[in-house]
Amino acid sequence: MVQVYKMYINGEWVSSKETFTRVNPATLEKIGEFQKGNEKDINKAIDAAEDAFEKWSETPAPKRGELLFKVGQLLKENKEELAKTITKEMGKVLVEARGDVQEAIDMTFLMAGEGRRLFGKTTPSELKDKFAMTIRRPIGIVGLITPWNFPIAIPSWKIMAALICGNTIVFKPSSDTPLCAIKFVEILEKAGIPKGVINLVTGPGSTAGMSLVRNKKVRAISFTGHRDTGEEILKTAGIKRVSLELGGKNPIIIMDDADLSLAVDGVIWGGYGTTGQRCTAASRVIVHEKIKNKFEKMLVERIKKLRIGNGLDNATDVGPLVNQAAQEKSKSYAEIGLKEGAKLLIGGHIPKMKGYFFEPTLFTDCSIKMRIAQEEIFGPIVSLIEAKDLDDAIEIANSVEYGLSSSIYTNNIRNAFKAIEKLKAGITYVNASTIGAEVHLPFGGVKQSGTTREAGWTAIEEFSELKTVYVDYSGKLQRAQIDD
Ligand code: UN1
Repeated sequence: MVQVYKMYINGEWVSSKETFTRVNPATLEKIGEFQKGNEKDINKAIDAAEDAFEKWSETPAPKRGELLFKVGQLLKENKEELAKTITKEMGKVLVEARGDVQEAIDMTFLMAGEGRRLFGKTTPSELKDKFAMTIRRPIGIVGLITPWNFPIAIPSWKIMAALICGNTIVFKPSSDTPLCAIKFVEILEKAGIPKGVINLVTGPGSTAGMSLVRNKKVRAISFTGHRDTGEEILKTAGIKRVSLELGGKNPIIIMDDADLSLAVDGVIWGGYGTTGQRCTAASRVIVHEKIKNKFEKMLVERIKKLRIGNGLDNATDVGPLVNQAAQEKSKSYAEIGLKEGAKLLIGGHIPKMKGYFFEPTLFTDCSIKMRIAQEEIFGPIVSLIEAKDLDDAIEIANSVEYGLSSSIYTNNIRNAFKAIEKLKAGITYVNASTIGAEVHLPFGGVKQSGTTREAGWTAIEEFSELKTVYVDYSGKLQRAQIDD
C-alpha cells in the first residue's frame, strides 16, 4: 500500500481534498500520496502563521538560536535517512544527497549562531545629544517556495534565516519532492519549533503557490526556481518583498595555460553532477582554440566512463532526471543542438532502461547564437564553444541572459583577475567548477538569474527589516537640517 502523507498547519498534520502521487524517477516506484493543497489550505496556514507571529518574534533571538541548534543536531542524526529520501525522491546520487543534507546542517548551525548577532549599526547624529542607529526587526509572515534539486539544502537556506530573524513561515515545496519537505518539517516539529511558526502546504505552484504569492498578509516571498515562474511571481506579488533565485547558463572558461586534467574534473563535476540539474551547473565550456582538440578528447574519454543508474547504487555517477518532462526536455534540446548544426561528440539519447535517464551529452562547435548555448536545459548536456583569447571568452561568457555562476581555469594571475572583474555573474570560481557554494557566503545572480543574495550575512538582510531609530536626549526641540 502506498503511504498517504499530510501537510503541517498550526502544529497539526492535516489533509486536503485531493492528493497526488510522486514516483521514484530511477525505478518509477511510487513514493507516496501527497496532499494537493489549495487556496483554502494556504489561507489556513497563513492564519496560523499570523497567530504565532507575536510570540515568536518576541522570543529573544539567542533563544530562537537554541532551537535551531536542536534542529541542526537532529538533521545530523538523521543525515543518512534524509540523504536516502533525497535519492529516492529526485534521483541524485547518494554522495551528493549527503552533501545536500550537510549543506542544511551547516546553514542551520550558521543561522543558530546569527541569533547572537543580528547586528544593526550606530552612526553619529548631525545634532548634539542625539543617537542614531538601526535595529533589525522581522518582516512578518513569509512565503517560501522551493525547488526539488536541493530539496533539503535550499529550504534550509530560507527556513533557518527566516526563523532566526523572527518571521513565521508558510513553506510550499516543489511537488517533485514533497517527502523531503515533510521529513524536514518533522525535524523542526521534533526540535520544538512552536506551532504555527512553520506551516507546510504541499500542492501545485499554479494554485497553492500563487495564492501564497497573492495574499496581502504575506510580507515576503522567497522563491528559487524557473525564470518564467519568477517573472510571474513578480507580477502577482503586489507590494511585498520578493527574492528570486532563478536559472543559469554558467560558463567555464578554459585558457591555454590551464591545468587541463583539473579542468576536465571541473567540467565533469559541474556539468554532469546532479545530472546537470543545478542552477549553478556548468552548461557551457568556453575553450581556448589552442587546446580545444586536446581538451575535447580528454573530456570525451571521461564522459565515456560515467555510469548511469540508480543513485542509491554506489557505482552510479549520474542519476536520472527528476521526471519525464525533464527527460523529454533534454531529448528535445539534443535534437535542437543537432538541427542547429552543433557537433555531437557523445551522448544525446535516452538510454534503454527503466527510469527517466538521459545520456551525459557533449556538443562542440557551438556558436553563441544557438539555443543550446543560450537556454537553460537543466539536464546532462554541455555545449562547448571555442574562443580566440580571453577577451573573446569573456564576451562569449557574458552573451547570455543569465548571470549566476561562472568559472575560469588558468594559471595566469592576470587572466584570473580580469575574469573576476569582467564576468557578469553573481559568483566566479578560479580553478574550480561553477558549483560548490558554501553557506556562509552570499549566493545569487545578476541579470535574469535573480534579484537577491541568499545565504551568508545576506540571508539576514533578506529576512529582516531595518528600523531606523533616533533618540534625542537633549530635552529640547532640535530640528534636523536647520539647527546647529
Ligand atoms: C542550485 O544549483 O540550485 O553551489 C543551488 C552549489 C550548491 C547550491 C546550488 N551548494 O552548487
